[in-house]
Formats: sequence, C-alpha cells, structure tokens
Amino acid sequence: MPHKVALTRLKLTDFRNYASASLALDGRHVVLTGDNGAGKTNLMEAVSFLSPGRGLRRAAYGDITRVGAAGGFSIFAELDGMEGVVEIGTGIDASDETTARRLRINGTTAKTVDELTDHLRVLWLTPAMDGLFTGGSSDRRRFLDRLVLSLDPEHARRASDFERAMRSRNKLLDEGRFDPSWLSGIEEQMASLGIAMALARQEMLGLLTRLIEESRETSPFPSASLQLSGFMDGQFSRPSVDLEDEYAATLAANRYRDAGAGRTLEGPHRADLIAHHREKQMEAARCSTGEQKALLVGLVLAHARLVGNLTGHAPVLLLDEIAAHLDEGRRAALFDLIDGLGGQAFMTGTDCQMFAALGERAQFFTVADGRVFE
Ligand SMILES: Nc1ncnc2c1ncn2[C@@H]1O[C@H](COP(=O)(O)OP(=O)(O)OP(=O)(O)O)[C@@H](O)[C@H]1O
Ligand SMILES: [Mg+2]
Repeated sequence: MPHKVALTRLKLTDFRNYASASLALDGRHVVLTGDNGAGKTNLMEAVSFLSPGRGLRRAAYGDITRVGAAGGFSIFAELDGMEGVVEIGTGIDASDETTARRLRINGTTAKTVDELTDHLRVLWLTPAMDGLFTGGSSDRRRFLDRLVLSLDPEHARRASDFERAMRSRNKLLDEGRFDPSWLSGIEEQMASLGIAMALARQEMLGLLTRLIEESRETSPFPSASLQLSGFMDGQFSRPSVDLEDEYAATLAANRYRDAGAGRTLEGPHRADLIAHHREKQMEAARCSTGEQKALLVGLVLAHARLVGNLTGHAPVLLLDEIAAHLDEGRRAALFDLIDGLGGQAFMTGTDCQMFAALGERAQFFTVADGRVFE
C-alpha cells in the first residue's frame, strides 16, 4: 500500500464565492455536499491549485478572485506530504492578476510551481471531462499529458521547450527564411524533444495498460485499452536515436509544405489518445454516455493506483460528482475501490445520503452559499 498524503487544513481567501473559509481535516476522505452553486467544485478547484498549472478549470486568474473583492486570492494548505508535514501557500496579488501565481512552501518562496510535485500529486475527474472521448483531440492530448506529468514532472518542460522550438520554426518558414543551417538546428531540437515526449507518453500508457490488465477481474468498471495515434504510430520499439533522425528528416523534407500550411503538420502536438472499451471491443467514442463515464472513472482510478505504486505515495483525488449516476451497489463498489487506493479523496454531490456507504471512512461537510460546515 502506498503512503497516504492527506490535507489537514485548507484555508481560502477571496477565492471564487468564498470570502474566507477554513476546513480542519483529519486525513479521512472529504465529502462535500450542498445545492447547485453552493461552492463544492470551487473547493476542489482550490485543492487542484496544489499542483502545477491553472487548476481543474484551467481558469484565468482574474476570474478566480472573488467578485467584489479588492483583488487577488489566496489558498493555504497544511498537509502530511511526500516529504513530511508541509505548509503551502499560493495565490495572486491584487496588483498582478495576469502574472504567474506565487507559491510559498514552509514560508519560503518557491522558484517554480513544479516544487509542488515534491510534496503531493493531485489528480481529478470532473463532469467537464465527460465528453473526453467524443470531443477534440487537444483535450485528450492535455489529459494524456497530465497523466504523464503526475509521474514525470519533467514532461512539462519538454513540452514547453518543444512548443517554443516549433514556434521559431513556424516563424522562420512564415517569413520565407529557408536558411538550412538555422532550420536544421531548430528541427534537431524539435526531434529530440518531440521523440522524448512521445516516448514518455508511450511508456506511461504501457504501464497503465499492464495495471488495467492485472486488475481486470476485480474492477467494477469496464477496462479501457489505450493507444497513441497520429505520430510515429507503432514505431516506439525502435531505438530513440533512429526515431529522432527520422522525425528530423521528415521536418526537413516538409519545409515548403509546412510553410504553405502555416504550421508544422507532423509532431507530438498532433498525437491523439485512442481508447477502446475492451470487453465490448468498441471505440470509446461510440460507447453510450454511461459506458464512457465508467471507462473514464476506471481509467482515472487505475492511473491513481499507478501513481501510488511508482511514487510510493497515493495521490490526492478530486472526484467531482462521481457518484451522481450510479446505483447504490455500484456506488458502494466505487467507494471501496477509492478507499483501497490508500489516499485521500475529495468527493462532491448534492445529497449526502449518496455517500452513506462511506460511513466512518469520510468526513462530511455541508457547503452553502460560500460557507462550509462540518
Ligand atoms: N470569481 C467569483 N466570485 C464570486 N463567485 C464566483 C466566482 N466564480 C464563480 N463563482 C460562483 O461560485 C458559485 C459556486 O460554484 P461551484 O461551481 O463551486 O458550485 P457547485 O457547488 O459545484 O454547484 P453544482 O452542484 O451546480 O456543480 C457559483 O454560483 C458561481 O457563479
Ligand atoms: Mg459543481
């Protein structure tokens, strides 16, 4: 069983509909119930800011600050983290809602938000992700990269360096500057970063697939089979230097085509995640709404188990409206599965009776109008 990482305190100031709120947590799961618009998802969003990035809504910071507040918001958390007890503060000052958010860990200003991953990993599943399999490929790519990122925090830097190199190439092509020495340098950089990204995705999917395979018999959810497509399909068993050479050669050979298109047409930025419902042998996009949801829940929980296995610490899980469409038996099975992951999960719903099967395993809070009561 991986070690538990658990929040013991969460304080919000001018965050969304909370002027100020403070929750004392005892390490068990956290159930948040209340009416629509009460502030349940907002609380989860606050916890999601304990991981790098812009949180589970990918919000602009200016939208997060409470309407009517002077400006800026802050989140403070105390937790039993991967390196022991830690205090984390993050937020935005009144004066600069457009810049990066501030982060303090144990009172010291952190250099980058990536330092958060030394203390905890946060994974989430929200209703906004329900259309993942039917929507655009960029959402699936982002989902995939978040899966990789929670195992390998370096993935973010590779992706942003690749983006930067690709933008330089696109700009040179756009300006008609086909100087081969300039372009080859950039393309070699794109090749080494792009192949590293693709291999990291492939490796994570391999591990996840193995784990899904192993737990197939015991999981109450359908199992997904997962493939990458759209970039270097089926080639990942070849040596990475060969793949890099091939991708660099492809880029070099397609400069005029890409100049005409106004963008780079081949690369890891075009990859897609293809999921199948394994038992039904059906592409996820063609499964029913309920089947797609079940696939997604199974996938996210399998990934949570993988993160626990590989880091030795169970991730904090944010499961927004997870129990909404499940019957009583499936709900109880889901709670057992979540509990069996060994970490702390935050769950929301409109009715606390839905969570009765959790019993003493959870702490229950009522959320109403931007206030929280145990
Ligand atoms: N910056 C902000 N300032 C003030 N209120 C905000 C801000 N951003 C969002 N809100 C409000 O916060 C309220 C609670 O939103 P939240 O998404 O947390 O509700 P919820 O409890 O999850 O509801 P549901 O059950 O419908 O999902 C909403 O009414 C929303 O309009
Ligand atoms: Mg909500």
